[in-house]
Amino acid sequence: RKRVRTHHLREMKERGEKFAMLTAYDMYTAAAFDEAGIEVLLVGDSASNNVLGNETSIPITVDELLPLTRAVARSAQHALVVGDLPFGSYQGSPEQAYNTAVRFMKEGGAHCVKLEGGREMTGQIELLTRGGIPVMAHIGFTPQSEHALGGYRVQGRGETAQRILADAKAIEAAGAFAVVMEMVPGDVAAQVTAELTIPTIGIGAGNGCDGQVLVWQDAFGLRTGKMARFVKQYADVHAVLTQAAEAYSADVKAGTFPGPEHTF
Ligand code: KIV
Ligand code: NA
Repeated sequence: RKRVRTHHLREMKERGEKFAMLTAYDMYTAAAFDEAGIEVLLVGDSASNNVLGNETSIPITVDELLPLTRAVARSAQHALVVGDLPFGSYQGSPEQAYNTAVRFMKEGGAHCVKLEGGREMTGQIELLTRGGIPVMAHIGFTPQSEHALGGYRVQGRGETAQRILADAKAIEAAGAFAVVMEMVPGDVAAQVTAELTIPTIGIGAGNGCDGQVLVWQDAFGLRTGKMARFVKQYADVHAVLTQAAEAYSADVKAGTFPGPEHTF
């Protein structure tokens, strides 16, 4: 298998083939998902609330996300690696976005970057694209704007569907190579997908998108508790880990680990 490039995703869209994206934040998960043939690995700012212990994605900094990006980029042989620009590191101006994106490429080893926003981000998308940095956009529910959007809610219902479509078209015209749509009604996401030439990637946006993305801790059950409706659980990694830790603890306390075969 060859390295997945942005043009491969566009070609897959043209052929009507779907592709899969997952988050990854470290070396062994990146290697495993890469081995499984996941086309795109996103080092999401969701590391904030899935790795670093914060409640939302808002607190994570560029300096915190860069080492995770580097770990994933070093460990993925085939996947396209996307660096996710943290809140406050790109909204200020196209120049700020460019400087941050350069760090994700040079220090993080990312192949492209993702940023949140629609038509208000066209200046950023144009400058980055002109500078040789492929940009994935992210519209619909954008977690970094949780407080402006008034909480976790579906975007693009009813009359606001036209806003989603206009944002998607502005993003495409500005040069983005793909767009994530989060918590958008399935029929709206399908219409956007049909009207764009660049691939769309859905999360809570139905199966009419060209690709899908999930946060791996949600999908594979490392995180417990209430999950969003759009999450499908494929594994129970939390149970595997707690059972292994309990067995180890019991062995240590019973004196049965280490055994002679573990001893020099
Ligand atoms: O940070 C993230 O995990 C994301 C995906 C949910 C698209 O932005
Ligand atoms: Na994100």
